[in-house]
Amino acid sequence: MGTNSAGLQPDQSNQEALSEAFAALSLRCVECAALYAGVEEKPRYRCECGGVLDVETTFQLPWPQEMPLQEGYNALASAENDLMPLAGAGWRQLFDERAARPPIWPVGGGSLLLDYSGVWRYRELILPLPASMIVSRPEGNTGLYPVGIENCGDGRDGHQRIGQFAGVERLFLKHEGENPSGSFKDRGMTVGVSMAKASGARAVACASTGNTSASLASYAAQVGLPCFVFLPAGNVAAGKLAQTLAYGATTISIDGDFDDAMRLVEQACNELGVYLLNSLNPYRIEGQKAIAFELLQQLDWQAPDWLILPAGNLGNTSAIGKAFLQARQLGLIGHLPRIAAIQAAGANPFYRSYMNTFASRASVQAHTIATAIKIGDPVSFTRARRVIEQTNGIVEEVSDEEILAAKSVIDRTGIGCEPASAATLAGMRKLVERGIIKRDERVVGILTGALLKDSLTGIPQQPQNAAVAANSDAVRKLLHGFLMNFTDRNRQ
Ligand code: F0G
Repeated sequence: MGTNSAGLQPDQSNQEALSEAFAALSLRCVECAALYAGVEEKPRYRCECGGVLDVETTFQLPWPQEMPLQEGYNALASAENDLMPLAGAGWRQLFDERAARPPIWPVGGGSLLLDYSGVWRYRELILPLPASMIVSRPEGNTGLYPVGIENCGDGRDGHQRIGQFAGVERLFLKHEGENPSGSFKDRGMTVGVSMAKASGARAVACASTGNTSASLASYAAQVGLPCFVFLPAGNVAAGKLAQTLAYGATTISIDGDFDDAMRLVEQACNELGVYLLNSLNPYRIEGQKAIAFELLQQLDWQAPDWLILPAGNLGNTSAIGKAFLQARQLGLIGHLPRIAAIQAAGANPFYRSYMNTFASRASVQAHTIATAIKIGDPVSFTRARRVIEQTNGIVEEVSDEEILAAKSVIDRTGIGCEPASAATLAGMRKLVERGIIKRDERVVGILTGALLKDSLTGIPQQPQNAAVAANSDAVRKLLHGFLMNFTDRNRQ
Protein backbone atom coordinates (compact mmCIF):
# COMPACT_ATOMS: atom_id res chain seq x y z
CA MET A 1 0.00 0.00 0.00
CA GLY A 2 1.34 3.43 -0.91
CA THR A 3 0.63 6.90 0.36
CA ASN A 4 -3.11 7.40 0.47
CA SER A 5 -5.17 10.42 -0.47
CA ALA A 6 -4.82 11.96 2.95
CA GLY A 7 -1.08 12.24 2.29
CA LEU A 8 -0.68 9.42 4.73
CA GLN A 9 2.43 7.35 5.29
CA PRO A 10 1.52 3.86 6.48
CA ASP A 11 3.84 2.24 8.99
CA GLN A 12 6.28 0.31 6.77
CA SER A 13 7.34 -2.28 9.36
CA ASN A 14 3.95 -3.98 9.44
CA GLN A 15 3.38 -3.78 5.73
CA GLU A 16 3.03 -7.47 5.07
CA ALA A 17 0.76 -8.32 7.99
CA LEU A 18 -1.33 -5.29 7.17
CA SER A 19 -1.70 -6.09 3.48
CA GLU A 20 -2.86 -9.57 4.47
CA ALA A 21 -5.37 -8.15 6.98
CA PHE A 22 -6.69 -5.57 4.55
CA ALA A 23 -7.02 -8.18 1.78
CA ALA A 24 -9.39 -10.17 4.01
CA LEU A 25 -11.78 -7.20 4.24
CA SER A 26 -14.39 -5.97 1.84
CA LEU A 27 -17.22 -3.46 2.05
CA ARG A 28 -20.75 -4.19 0.83
CA CYS A 29 -23.32 -1.48 0.11
CA VAL A 30 -26.41 -2.03 2.24
CA GLU A 31 -28.62 -0.46 -0.46
CA CYS A 32 -27.45 -1.95 -3.79
CA ALA A 33 -25.07 -4.74 -2.62
CA ALA A 34 -22.11 -3.36 -4.63
CA LEU A 35 -18.80 -4.72 -3.33
CA TYR A 36 -15.61 -2.69 -2.68
CA ALA A 37 -12.15 -3.44 -1.32
CA GLY A 38 -11.98 -3.06 2.46
CA VAL A 39 -9.27 -0.42 2.23
CA GLU A 40 -8.84 1.79 -0.81
CA GLU A 41 -6.31 4.49 -1.49
CA LYS A 42 -8.92 7.09 -0.54
CA PRO A 43 -10.98 5.98 2.48
CA ARG A 44 -14.50 5.11 1.32
CA TYR A 45 -17.54 5.70 3.54
CA ARG A 46 -20.31 5.36 0.97
CA CYS A 47 -21.16 3.41 -2.15
CA GLU A 48 -21.33 5.21 -5.49
CA CYS A 49 -25.14 5.00 -5.06
CA GLY A 50 -24.89 6.90 -1.76
CA GLY A 51 -25.67 3.88 0.43
CA VAL A 52 -23.69 3.15 3.58
CA LEU A 53 -21.31 0.18 3.74
CA ASP A 54 -21.02 -2.93 5.81
CA VAL A 55 -17.79 -4.83 6.55
CA GLU A 56 -17.57 -8.35 5.21
CA THR A 57 -14.74 -10.66 6.21
CA THR A 58 -13.97 -14.34 6.52
CA PHE A 59 -13.72 -15.18 10.19
CA GLN A 60 -10.21 -16.30 11.07
CA LEU A 61 -10.36 -19.74 12.65
CA PRO A 62 -8.83 -19.70 16.12
CA TRP A 63 -8.03 -23.41 16.13
CA PRO A 64 -5.69 -25.53 13.96
CA GLN A 65 -7.13 -26.69 10.67
CA GLU A 66 -6.80 -30.39 11.51
CA MET A 67 -8.93 -30.24 14.67
CA PRO A 68 -12.42 -31.76 14.50
CA LEU A 69 -13.84 -28.34 15.29
CA GLN A 70 -12.86 -27.37 11.79
CA GLU A 71 -15.55 -29.69 10.52
CA GLY A 72 -18.13 -27.87 12.54
CA TYR A 73 -16.95 -24.61 11.13
CA ASN A 74 -17.02 -25.92 7.59
CA ALA A 75 -20.58 -27.01 8.23
CA LEU A 76 -21.57 -23.36 8.45
CA ALA A 77 -20.64 -22.87 4.85
CA SER A 78 -22.34 -26.07 3.72
CA ALA A 79 -25.40 -25.39 5.92
CA GLU A 80 -25.14 -28.76 7.69
CA ASN A 81 -26.66 -27.33 10.81
CA ASP A 82 -26.25 -30.44 12.94
CA LEU A 83 -22.51 -29.73 13.20
CA MET A 84 -22.96 -26.10 14.19
CA PRO A 85 -23.07 -26.64 17.98
CA LEU A 86 -19.59 -28.15 17.72
CA ALA A 87 -18.22 -24.98 16.19
CA GLY A 88 -20.09 -22.89 18.76
CA ALA A 89 -18.49 -24.85 21.60
CA GLY A 90 -15.05 -24.10 20.15
CA TRP A 91 -15.67 -20.37 20.03
CA ARG A 92 -17.15 -20.32 23.53
CA GLN A 93 -14.17 -22.20 24.96
CA LEU A 94 -11.73 -19.83 23.29
CA PHE A 95 -13.44 -16.68 24.60
CA ASP A 96 -13.98 -18.16 28.07
CA GLU A 97 -10.29 -19.07 28.36
CA ARG A 98 -9.28 -15.57 27.38
CA ALA A 99 -11.73 -13.98 29.84
CA ALA A 100 -10.44 -16.18 32.66
CA ARG A 101 -6.85 -14.94 32.34
CA PRO A 102 -5.82 -12.29 34.87
CA PRO A 103 -5.12 -8.85 33.41
CA ILE A 104 -1.36 -8.85 33.89
CA TRP A 105 0.50 -6.36 31.71
CA PRO A 106 3.56 -8.13 30.32
CA VAL A 107 6.63 -5.91 30.33
CA GLY A 108 6.95 -6.12 26.56
CA GLY A 109 3.23 -5.64 25.74
CA GLY A 110 1.74 -8.50 23.77
CA SER A 111 -1.53 -10.24 23.18
CA LEU A 112 -2.51 -10.71 26.85
CA LEU A 113 -3.56 -7.08 26.84
CA LEU A 114 -5.85 -7.79 23.92
CA ASP A 115 -7.49 -10.65 25.82
CA TYR A 116 -8.36 -8.20 28.58
CA SER A 117 -10.09 -5.77 26.21
CA GLY A 118 -13.83 -6.42 26.05
CA VAL A 119 -13.56 -5.81 22.32
CA TRP A 120 -10.36 -7.53 21.20
CA ARG A 121 -11.04 -10.63 23.31
CA TYR A 122 -13.41 -11.47 20.44
CA ARG A 123 -10.94 -10.29 17.78
CA GLU A 124 -11.62 -13.11 15.32
CA LEU A 125 -15.21 -11.84 15.13
CA ILE A 126 -14.25 -8.14 15.10
CA LEU A 127 -11.39 -7.35 12.70
CA PRO A 128 -8.26 -9.26 11.64
CA LEU A 129 -5.74 -6.49 12.46
CA PRO A 130 -2.13 -7.18 13.49
CA ALA A 131 -1.77 -6.71 17.27
CA SER A 132 0.84 -3.97 16.77
CA MET A 133 -1.81 -1.80 15.07
CA ILE A 134 -4.37 -2.00 17.84
CA VAL A 135 -5.08 1.13 19.87
CA SER A 136 -6.81 0.08 23.08
CA ARG A 137 -7.35 1.61 26.55
CA PRO A 138 -8.44 -1.31 27.01
CA GLU A 139 -12.23 -0.96 26.85
CA GLY A 140 -15.33 -2.99 27.66
CA ASN A 141 -15.67 -5.34 30.65
CA THR A 142 -18.68 -3.31 31.70
CA GLY A 143 -21.00 -4.31 34.53
CA LEU A 144 -24.12 -6.40 34.07
CA TYR A 145 -26.58 -5.63 36.87
CA PRO A 146 -29.34 -8.09 37.78
CA VAL A 147 -32.23 -5.74 38.58
CA GLY A 148 -35.39 -7.75 37.89
CA ILE A 149 -38.11 -8.49 40.41
CA GLU A 150 -36.95 -12.12 40.61
CA ASN A 151 -33.28 -12.08 39.72
CA CYS A 152 -31.97 -9.09 41.65
CA GLY A 153 -30.68 -11.23 44.51
CA ASP A 154 -30.76 -10.83 48.28
CA GLY A 155 -29.79 -7.54 49.82
CA ARG A 156 -30.25 -5.61 46.61
CA ASP A 157 -33.72 -4.20 47.19
CA GLY A 158 -32.67 -0.83 45.79
CA HIS A 159 -31.81 -2.36 42.43
CA GLN A 160 -35.02 -4.36 42.44
CA ARG A 161 -36.96 -1.09 42.09
CA ILE A 162 -35.86 -0.99 38.47
CA GLY A 163 -37.47 -4.37 37.80
CA GLN A 164 -40.63 -3.23 39.58
CA PHE A 165 -40.73 -0.03 37.54
CA ALA A 166 -40.38 -1.99 34.29
CA GLY A 167 -42.62 -4.87 35.41
CA VAL A 168 -40.01 -7.49 34.46
CA GLU A 169 -39.05 -10.51 36.58
CA ARG A 170 -35.67 -11.36 35.05
CA LEU A 171 -33.94 -8.18 33.96
CA PHE A 172 -30.30 -7.18 33.49
CA LEU A 173 -28.90 -3.74 32.77
CA LYS A 174 -25.55 -3.64 30.99
CA HIS A 175 -23.84 -0.37 31.85
CA GLU A 176 -21.79 0.76 28.87
CA GLY A 177 -21.18 4.02 30.72
CA GLU A 178 -18.46 2.06 32.55
CA ASN A 179 -16.21 2.19 29.48
CA PRO A 180 -13.00 4.28 29.80
CA SER A 181 -14.48 7.50 28.40
CA GLY A 182 -17.88 6.85 29.97
CA SER A 183 -19.89 5.59 26.98
CA PHE A 184 -20.30 2.63 24.63
CA LYS A 185 -18.56 4.62 21.89
CA ASP A 186 -15.14 3.38 23.09
CA ARG A 187 -15.89 -0.07 21.68
CA GLY A 188 -16.27 1.29 18.18
CA MET A 189 -13.48 3.79 18.60
CA THR A 190 -10.77 1.28 19.52
CA VAL A 191 -11.41 -0.37 16.16
CA GLY A 192 -11.93 2.87 14.23
CA VAL A 193 -8.77 4.55 15.53
CA SER A 194 -6.79 1.33 15.01
CA MET A 195 -7.92 1.41 11.37
CA ALA A 196 -6.98 5.11 11.15
CA LYS A 197 -3.52 4.26 12.46
CA ALA A 198 -3.17 1.22 10.21
CA SER A 199 -4.18 3.29 7.18
CA GLY A 200 -1.65 5.98 8.09
CA ALA A 201 -4.23 8.72 8.69
CA ARG A 202 -2.83 12.18 9.42
CA ALA A 203 -5.90 13.41 11.30
CA VAL A 204 -9.30 12.15 12.42
CA ALA A 205 -12.70 13.82 12.72
CA CYS A 206 -16.33 13.22 13.68
CA ALA A 207 -19.62 14.99 14.20
CA SER A 208 -21.09 14.32 17.61
CA THR A 209 -23.75 14.94 20.19
CA GLY A 210 -20.87 14.59 22.68
CA ASN A 211 -19.99 10.99 23.45
CA THR A 212 -18.44 10.10 20.11
CA SER A 213 -16.31 13.23 20.32
CA ALA A 214 -15.13 12.46 23.87
CA SER A 215 -14.25 8.92 22.85
CA LEU A 216 -12.52 9.88 19.61
CA ALA A 217 -10.56 12.64 21.37
CA SER A 218 -9.35 10.11 23.92
CA TYR A 219 -8.22 7.46 21.44
CA ALA A 220 -6.71 10.02 19.04
CA ALA A 221 -4.68 11.44 21.93
CA GLN A 222 -3.37 7.95 22.70
CA VAL A 223 -1.76 7.73 19.24
CA GLY A 224 -1.01 11.44 18.90
CA LEU A 225 -3.37 12.05 15.97
CA PRO A 226 -4.87 15.53 15.51
CA CYS A 227 -8.62 15.33 16.15
CA PHE A 228 -11.41 17.62 14.93
CA VAL A 229 -14.91 17.36 16.29
CA PHE A 230 -17.99 19.05 14.80
CA LEU A 231 -20.52 19.82 17.54
CA PRO A 232 -24.06 21.24 17.36
CA ALA A 233 -23.53 24.57 19.20
CA GLY A 234 -25.23 24.70 22.60
CA ASN A 235 -26.48 21.12 22.38
CA VAL A 236 -23.67 19.12 23.95
CA ALA A 237 -23.80 18.23 27.66
CA ALA A 238 -21.08 19.92 29.70
CA GLY A 239 -19.34 16.71 30.85
CA LYS A 240 -18.85 15.52 27.28
CA LEU A 241 -17.57 18.87 26.07
CA ALA A 242 -15.15 19.06 29.02
CA GLN A 243 -13.72 15.62 28.17
CA THR A 244 -13.35 16.46 24.49
CA LEU A 245 -11.47 19.68 25.26
CA ALA A 246 -9.36 18.14 28.01
CA TYR A 247 -8.21 15.32 25.73
CA GLY A 248 -6.96 17.97 23.33
CA ALA A 249 -9.39 17.82 20.41
CA THR A 250 -10.13 20.89 18.30
CA THR A 251 -13.85 21.65 18.50
CA ILE A 252 -15.76 23.19 15.62
CA SER A 253 -19.11 24.48 16.88
CA ILE A 254 -21.70 24.38 14.13
CA ASP A 255 -24.55 26.88 14.22
CA GLY A 256 -27.03 24.10 13.45
CA ASP A 257 -28.04 20.67 14.71
CA PHE A 258 -26.29 17.28 14.73
CA ASP A 259 -27.59 16.46 11.26
CA ASP A 260 -25.95 19.65 9.90
CA ALA A 261 -22.69 18.78 11.70
CA MET A 262 -22.80 15.25 10.27
CA ARG A 263 -23.31 16.48 6.70
CA LEU A 264 -20.49 19.02 7.02
CA VAL A 265 -17.94 16.69 8.60
CA GLU A 266 -18.49 14.05 5.92
CA GLN A 267 -17.95 16.65 3.22
CA ALA A 268 -14.85 18.09 4.94
CA CYS A 269 -13.30 14.64 5.46
CA ASN A 270 -13.81 13.68 1.82
CA GLU A 271 -12.38 16.99 0.58
CA LEU A 272 -9.42 17.27 2.96
CA GLY A 273 -8.51 13.61 3.35
CA VAL A 274 -9.15 13.53 7.08
CA TYR A 275 -10.19 10.09 8.40
CA LEU A 276 -13.89 10.12 9.36
CA LEU A 277 -14.84 8.31 12.56
CA ASN A 278 -18.59 8.53 12.80
CA SER A 279 -20.45 5.23 12.62
CA LEU A 280 -20.77 5.99 8.91
CA ASN A 281 -17.28 4.45 9.01
CA PRO A 282 -18.22 0.74 8.94
CA TYR A 283 -15.26 -0.34 11.08
CA ARG A 284 -16.76 1.46 14.08
CA ILE A 285 -19.78 -0.83 13.81
CA GLU A 286 -17.52 -3.90 13.96
CA GLY A 287 -16.16 -2.75 17.35
CA GLN A 288 -19.59 -2.02 18.78
CA LYS A 289 -20.61 -5.61 18.04
CA ALA A 290 -18.54 -6.52 21.10
CA ILE A 291 -21.28 -5.18 23.41
CA ALA A 292 -23.35 -8.18 22.33
CA PHE A 293 -20.50 -10.73 22.47
CA GLU A 294 -19.50 -9.63 25.97
CA LEU A 295 -23.12 -9.62 27.13
CA LEU A 296 -23.66 -13.16 25.82
CA GLN A 297 -20.51 -14.33 27.57
CA GLN A 298 -21.66 -12.72 30.85
CA LEU A 299 -24.94 -14.65 30.47
CA ASP A 300 -22.98 -17.90 29.91
CA TRP A 301 -23.98 -17.80 26.24
CA GLN A 302 -27.70 -18.04 27.01
CA ALA A 303 -29.23 -15.40 24.75
CA PRO A 304 -31.93 -13.23 26.36
CA ASP A 305 -35.40 -12.92 24.83
CA TRP A 306 -35.12 -9.13 24.44
CA LEU A 307 -32.34 -6.59 24.03
CA ILE A 308 -33.46 -2.98 24.51
CA LEU A 309 -31.41 0.11 23.68
CA PRO A 310 -31.74 3.83 22.92
CA ALA A 311 -31.55 4.74 19.23
CA GLY A 312 -30.23 7.93 17.65
CA ASN A 313 -27.92 7.68 14.66
CA LEU A 314 -28.72 3.92 14.70
CA GLY A 315 -25.11 2.68 14.66
CA ASN A 316 -25.55 0.74 17.87
CA THR A 317 -28.80 -0.93 16.82
CA SER A 318 -27.01 -2.02 13.63
CA ALA A 319 -23.94 -3.28 15.48
CA ILE A 320 -25.70 -5.27 18.19
CA GLY A 321 -28.08 -6.79 15.67
CA LYS A 322 -25.21 -7.81 13.40
CA ALA A 323 -23.41 -9.41 16.34
CA PHE A 324 -26.44 -11.46 17.38
CA LEU A 325 -26.94 -12.66 13.81
CA GLN A 326 -23.28 -13.67 13.57
CA ALA A 327 -23.35 -15.33 16.99
CA ARG A 328 -26.25 -17.48 15.90
CA GLN A 329 -24.62 -18.23 12.57
CA LEU A 330 -21.47 -19.41 14.36
CA GLY A 331 -23.36 -21.60 16.80
CA LEU A 332 -22.41 -19.39 19.78
CA ILE A 333 -26.07 -19.02 20.74
CA GLY A 334 -29.18 -21.04 19.98
CA HIS A 335 -31.75 -18.32 19.37
CA LEU A 336 -31.86 -14.67 18.36
CA PRO A 337 -32.94 -12.07 20.91
CA ARG A 338 -35.58 -9.61 19.70
CA ILE A 339 -34.22 -6.07 19.55
CA ALA A 340 -36.26 -3.08 20.73
CA ALA A 341 -34.87 0.30 19.62
CA ILE A 342 -36.22 3.21 21.67
CA GLN A 343 -36.33 6.76 20.34
CA ALA A 344 -37.19 10.05 22.01
CA ALA A 345 -40.62 11.14 20.76
CA GLY A 346 -39.21 14.47 19.56
CA ALA A 347 -36.40 12.74 17.63
CA ASN A 348 -38.23 9.76 16.20
CA PRO A 349 -37.59 9.32 12.45
CA PHE A 350 -36.93 5.59 12.85
CA TYR A 351 -40.11 5.09 14.88
CA ARG A 352 -42.16 6.95 12.27
CA SER A 353 -40.76 4.80 9.47
CA TYR A 354 -41.34 1.65 11.50
CA MET A 355 -44.98 2.64 12.06
CA ASN A 356 -45.19 3.03 8.31
CA THR A 357 -43.82 -0.56 7.91
CA PHE A 358 -40.62 1.05 6.63
CA ALA A 359 -42.39 1.95 3.38
CA SER A 360 -40.58 5.30 3.43
CA ARG A 361 -37.68 6.86 5.28
CA ALA A 362 -38.68 9.70 7.60
CA SER A 363 -36.56 12.59 8.87
CA VAL A 364 -37.51 15.18 11.48
CA GLN A 365 -36.28 18.38 13.11
CA ALA A 366 -35.15 16.81 16.39
CA HIS A 367 -36.12 18.10 19.87
CA THR A 368 -35.47 16.25 23.13
CA ILE A 369 -33.81 16.79 26.50
CA ALA A 370 -31.79 13.65 25.77
CA THR A 371 -29.23 15.53 23.65
CA ALA A 372 -27.23 12.35 22.89
CA ILE A 373 -30.07 11.08 20.71
CA LYS A 374 -31.27 14.42 19.36
CA ILE A 375 -30.88 13.27 15.76
CA GLY A 376 -33.41 13.77 12.96
CA ASP A 377 -31.84 11.94 10.01
CA PRO A 378 -29.93 8.86 11.20
CA VAL A 379 -27.00 7.71 9.07
CA SER A 380 -27.38 3.97 9.77
CA PHE A 381 -31.09 3.88 8.95
CA THR A 382 -30.96 1.02 6.42
CA ARG A 383 -28.57 -1.11 8.49
CA ALA A 384 -30.84 -0.74 11.52
CA ARG A 385 -34.03 -1.37 9.54
CA ARG A 386 -32.60 -4.73 8.49
CA VAL A 387 -31.77 -5.58 12.09
CA ILE A 388 -35.32 -4.85 13.23
CA GLU A 389 -36.68 -6.98 10.41
CA GLN A 390 -34.22 -9.86 10.91
CA THR A 391 -34.63 -10.05 14.70
CA ASN A 392 -38.39 -9.64 14.67
CA GLY A 393 -37.65 -6.44 16.53
CA ILE A 394 -39.66 -3.38 17.38
CA VAL A 395 -39.22 0.39 17.53
CA GLU A 396 -40.86 2.40 20.31
CA GLU A 397 -40.91 6.09 21.25
CA VAL A 398 -40.91 7.70 24.69
CA SER A 399 -41.61 11.27 25.77
CA ASP A 400 -39.06 13.42 27.60
CA GLU A 401 -41.20 13.07 30.74
CA GLU A 402 -41.03 9.28 30.48
CA ILE A 403 -37.23 9.46 29.98
CA LEU A 404 -36.82 11.66 33.07
CA ALA A 405 -39.03 9.39 35.20
CA ALA A 406 -37.00 6.33 34.19
CA LYS A 407 -33.71 8.17 34.73
CA SER A 408 -34.73 9.14 38.22
CA VAL A 409 -35.45 5.46 39.05
CA ILE A 410 -32.05 4.34 37.70
CA ASP A 411 -30.24 7.18 39.46
CA ARG A 412 -31.94 6.57 42.80
CA THR A 413 -30.85 2.93 42.81
CA GLY A 414 -27.24 4.13 42.80
CA ILE A 415 -26.53 2.86 39.30
CA GLY A 416 -27.19 6.13 37.45
CA CYS A 417 -26.99 6.99 33.76
CA GLU A 418 -27.26 9.89 31.35
CA PRO A 419 -30.72 10.86 29.99
CA ALA A 420 -30.50 9.05 26.61
CA SER A 421 -29.69 5.79 28.40
CA ALA A 422 -32.87 6.04 30.44
CA ALA A 423 -34.90 5.76 27.22
CA THR A 424 -34.08 2.05 27.50
CA LEU A 425 -36.01 1.65 30.75
CA ALA A 426 -38.79 4.02 29.72
CA GLY A 427 -39.31 2.06 26.50
CA MET A 428 -39.14 -1.27 28.32
CA ARG A 429 -41.87 -0.21 30.74
CA LYS A 430 -44.06 0.88 27.85
CA LEU A 431 -43.56 -2.37 25.93
CA VAL A 432 -44.43 -4.39 29.03
CA GLU A 433 -47.56 -2.27 29.56
CA ARG A 434 -48.52 -2.88 25.95
CA GLY A 435 -48.11 -6.65 26.49
CA ILE A 436 -45.37 -6.93 23.86
CA ILE A 437 -42.67 -7.86 26.36
CA LYS A 438 -43.97 -10.54 28.72
CA ARG A 439 -43.30 -10.17 32.43
CA ASP A 440 -41.48 -13.53 32.60
CA GLU A 441 -39.26 -13.07 29.54
CA ARG A 442 -35.49 -12.58 29.98
CA VAL A 443 -34.73 -8.96 29.21
CA VAL A 444 -31.47 -7.01 28.89
CA GLY A 445 -31.37 -3.22 28.68
CA ILE A 446 -28.31 -1.26 27.57
CA LEU A 447 -27.35 1.88 29.49
CA THR A 448 -25.19 3.75 27.01
CA GLY A 449 -23.59 6.60 28.97
CA ALA A 450 -22.44 7.54 32.48
CA LEU A 451 -24.40 9.80 34.81
CA LEU A 452 -21.70 12.48 35.03
CA LYS A 453 -21.80 13.05 31.28
CA ASP A 454 -24.77 15.34 31.91
CA SER A 455 -24.88 16.61 35.47
CA LEU A 456 -27.83 18.95 34.94
CA THR A 457 -30.67 17.22 33.11
CA GLY A 458 -33.02 15.42 35.46
CA ILE A 459 -30.74 15.72 38.48
CA PRO A 460 -31.93 17.46 41.67
CA GLN A 461 -29.85 20.63 42.07
CA GLN A 462 -28.67 21.87 45.45
CA PRO A 463 -30.63 24.93 46.60
CA GLN A 464 -28.71 28.21 46.60
CA ASN A 465 -27.39 29.34 50.00
CA ALA A 466 -27.86 25.84 51.42
CA ALA A 467 -24.72 25.98 53.59
CA VAL A 468 -25.33 25.35 57.28
CA ALA A 469 -23.41 27.18 60.02
CA ALA A 470 -20.19 25.32 60.94
CA ASN A 471 -21.23 24.37 64.47
CA SER A 472 -22.60 21.15 65.90
CA ASP A 473 -25.88 22.65 67.17
CA ALA A 474 -26.86 23.82 63.72
CA VAL A 475 -25.89 20.46 62.12
CA ARG A 476 -27.73 18.48 64.81
CA LYS A 477 -30.89 20.53 64.33
CA LEU A 478 -30.75 20.12 60.59
CA LEU A 479 -30.16 16.35 60.70
CA HIS A 480 -32.90 15.92 63.26
CA GLY A 481 -35.34 17.57 60.84
CA PHE A 482 -34.22 15.28 58.00
CA LEU A 483 -34.52 12.14 60.15
CA MET A 484 -38.03 13.08 61.27
CA ASN A 485 -38.96 13.52 57.62
CA PHE A 486 -37.62 10.07 56.68
CA THR A 487 -39.45 8.44 59.59
CA ASP A 488 -42.73 10.12 58.61
CA ARG A 489 -42.28 9.04 54.98
CA ASN A 490 -41.55 5.42 55.98
CA ARG A 491 -44.71 5.33 58.12
CA GLN A 492 -46.89 6.41 55.19
N1 F0G B 1 -26.93 6.80 23.96
C1 F0G B 1 -25.92 7.66 24.06
C2 F0G B 1 -25.44 8.01 25.42
C3 F0G B 1 -25.33 8.21 22.90
O1 F0G B 1 -24.32 9.06 23.02
C4 F0G B 1 -25.84 7.86 21.64
C5 F0G B 1 -25.28 8.42 20.42
C6 F0G B 1 -26.89 6.93 21.59
C7 F0G B 1 -27.42 6.43 22.76
C8 F0G B 1 -27.48 6.47 20.30
O2 F0G B 1 -26.65 5.58 19.65
O3 F0G B 1 -26.39 6.84 17.54
O4 F0G B 1 -25.69 4.46 17.71
O5 F0G B 1 -28.10 5.08 17.74
N2 F0G B 1 -24.43 9.35 20.42
C9 F0G B 1 -23.73 9.84 19.21
C10 F0G B 1 -22.65 10.80 19.61
C11 F0G B 1 -24.62 10.33 18.15
O6 F0G B 1 -22.27 11.65 18.80
O7 F0G B 1 -22.12 10.69 20.71
P1 F0G B 1 -26.71 5.46 18.05
